[in-house]
Formats: sequence, C-alpha cells, structure tokens
Amino acid sequence: MNTILVTGGAGFIGSNFIRYALIKDKDVRIVNLDALTYAGNLISLGKLPDPKRHTFIQGGVENSELLEKILREHEVTRIVHFAAETHVDRSIIDPELFIRTNVIGTYRLLMAALKYWEERKILDDSIVRFHHISTDEVFGALGKNDPPFDENTPYQPNSPYSASKAASDHFVRSFSRTYGLPVTITNCSNNYGPFQYPEKLIPLVILNALEEKPIPIYGKGAQIRDWLYVSDHCDAIWKALFNGTSGETYCIGGDTQIENIELVKMICRILDEKKPLHSGSYEQYIHFVTDRPGHDFRYAINCTKIKQKLDWKPKTLLHDGLCATIRWYLDNIEWVKAVRKKPSYQEWITKNYLKRG
Ligand code: NAD
Ligand code: TYD
Repeated sequence: MNTILVTGGAGFIGSNFIRYALIKDKDVRIVNLDALTYAGNLISLGKLPDPKRHTFIQGGVENSELLEKILREHEVTRIVHFAAETHVDRSIIDPELFIRTNVIGTYRLLMAALKYWEERKILDDSIVRFHHISTDEVFGALGKNDPPFDENTPYQPNSPYSASKAASDHFVRSFSRTYGLPVTITNCSNNYGPFQYPEKLIPLVILNALEEKPIPIYGKGAQIRDWLYVSDHCDAIWKALFNGTSGETYCIGGDTQIENIELVKMICRILDEKKPLHSGSYEQYIHFVTDRPGHDFRYAINCTKIKQKLDWKPKTLLHDGLCATIRWYLDNIEWVKAVRKKPSYQEWITKNYLKRG
C-alpha cells in the first residue's frame, strides 16, 4: 500500500485532493499533516470516503523532529506538499510568516524526506517522489497581449507571497539537482470550488452577495485571472505525482481567462437564477474599493506540456464550475458558519476592508 504524506490537507486544495485520492486508488493511505492555521479546518475533512485510510496529525512543516517521526512511522513513499500561507493580501501585511512557512517549512520537509529516503536506501524515482504545489504567481504579471506563462517563463515574483513560493520552488529544484531527490513541481493558476476559505475572491463574492453585503472589487476589476476548477487540478496533481518525470515542472491552468469584474457579474447572474432577490440583481452590491498594492494585472497559463506529456486537460467550463461551487456553498452553510466562527475571520475582514473604503 502506498502511503502519501499530504501537507496542508485541512486547507482548500489539500482537502479536495485527499477526497480525490481516497476514491481514485483504494490502495492508497493518506497521512495528513496540517498546522490548523486560520485556513485549516477539520470540518473540511468530514465524511471522507473510507476514512480509515486517512490519518490526521496536527503540526507544522517546520518541525523537523515531527517530520522525521511521521516519515518513519508511516513509511511514507510520496509527499504532496500543499501546506503554505496562501493569501496575497495577508502577505502584504505580514511577510515574515510567509518566509517561515513557505520557505523554511519547505526546506525542512525536503531535508526530512531526503534523510529518511537515503537511510531506507529508497532514494529512487521508481519508489519515492516529493511533489511540490506551486503557483503561476511566481512568474510575475502579464500584459493584456503577452503570451501566457509556460515552464520556460523566467521567475519574476511581485508579492511577498509569490516571492516566498518562488524561493520554495528553487529549493525543491536544487534538492533534485544537488542531492538526487526525486521531485516534481506544478505551477497552477487560481483555483476555485468547494471548501475554499471565504477570504479569496470567489467564495467571498458568493457569500457577500447572498448576505446582501457590498462585494469588494479591487481597483476597477480589470485584472485577469485564469480560473481552474479544483477537481481538475487534483486530476493534474495525481498525474504529475505518479506519471510525471522526476526533476520536471508542469504548468496547470484552466484555459479560462476572465477579468475580475466579468467573473463577479457572472457569479451575480447565476445567483439571480438560483436564488432571486425580491428586487433587482445581485450586481447592485458590487462595490469598487482601493486597489491592492502591486496588484498583478494578468495571469494565464499555457498548459500544452501537461496536456501532451501526461494526457491531462481541464474538463470543467467556468460557468459549470461556478454553478457547482455556488450550489456547494448554498448546501453547506454549516461549513461556512464553522469556518467564519473563529475570531480570526472577522479580524481579517475588518483589517483588510475597513481601510479600503
Ligand atoms: P489554504 O490556505 O486553503 O490552505 C493551506 C493549508 O496549509 C491550511 O490547512 C493550513 O492550516 C496549512 N498550513 C499553513 N501553514 C502550515 C504549516 N506551517 N504547517 C502545516 N500546515 C500549514 O491553501 P490552498 O488554497 O489550499 O493552497 C494549497 C497550495 O496550493 C499552496 O501551496 C498554494 O500556494 C498553492 N496554490 C493555491 C492556489 C489557489 O488558487 N488556491 C493557486 C496556486 C497555488
Ligand atoms: P484572490 O482570490 O485573492 O487570488 P490571487 O490574488 O492569488 O489572484 O484574488 C483574485 C483576484 O480578485 C485578484 O485580482 C484580486 C481580486 N480581489 C478583489 O477584487 N476583491 C477581493 O476582495 C479579493 C479578495 C480579491
């Protein structure tokens, strides 16, 4: 039986990946290491398929002793490293936490994996793999007519978040070249779907609209993102983890570029159909606020490599993915209440939006 160590498995993409993996392969066992920060919620791991094959351990990826113990006790052969501080706006306010978790945490995890797999004499690509989850934000920002990012795009991170992810990518690559650690890296575009913490754009818009509160749009909402439905992302990670070539990077995108304002209007129109207001459209709640400093204008991914090499493509159209996501938030109001109950949520909303006007 394969044991996969998933870090950050109580977060948005990690919890979706655990569900995906338990269904995909009945012979897989998951050990989930998560510090349960504001973004990590055990409620996201409720009703797992075959929960006996999932073990949760609360702890930080910076804890080398704990990492070594977990790898040894669970005989881990594959690692999927999601754990990170992930919100750009928070990184602008507290960059140091991003260095600690994203850079030092990744380094410690690499070191622990190398040490354990060397000791066991299994440092072999056919047996073990360290898969690092990264972002397209490491490549910087595109202009309107620039070609999308691909695996050969130079790194040019602009926010403390993307700088910390870029640093972590470089460490992962260096462990492959220097020590022969079998690694793969995926750089993906903006994800959306069930279980996303409601500080990120899509769940924030859905919930504010439903509560008839202002829907904050930074600047004029002209920025462009390439949206990837989370289950398509899980599919791509699985392929990279088991069929990807060690030492390689794969870019993953949704082939779906859209301006923020258009995306928000699309969400409002879907809500108008699913849960009509007494009068007017949810669009009336759109509210333009002060822009994010250093706001990257456009991200877009050319995912030809993963399509050709690993036979993957994004299957979910934006409209379908948004309908499914909205349905999920409507049906899971208990989850929403639970994750917003922690004081950290309201504190963040006040801190981020009060000053924006
Ligand atoms: P998230 O913020 O929803 O979850 C992060 C998880 O990591 C949480 O469960 C948190 O408790 C855990 N965590 C934080 N610090 C930790 C630590 N020191 N030790 C152990 N666990 C810790 O994040 P997400 O959106 O699921 O993103 C997962 C990964 O995907 C991240 O590496 C992120 O950079 C990357 N990514 C995300 C997106 C996106 O659109 N969400 C896009 C590209 C890349
Ligand atoms: P976000 O979900 O934070 O992802 P990222 O910054 O990693 O791309 O934001 C997506 C886009 O939405 C980004 O251009 C910033 C914008 N945005 C708003 O306009 N208003 C908001 O309240 C938030 C959170 C984001």
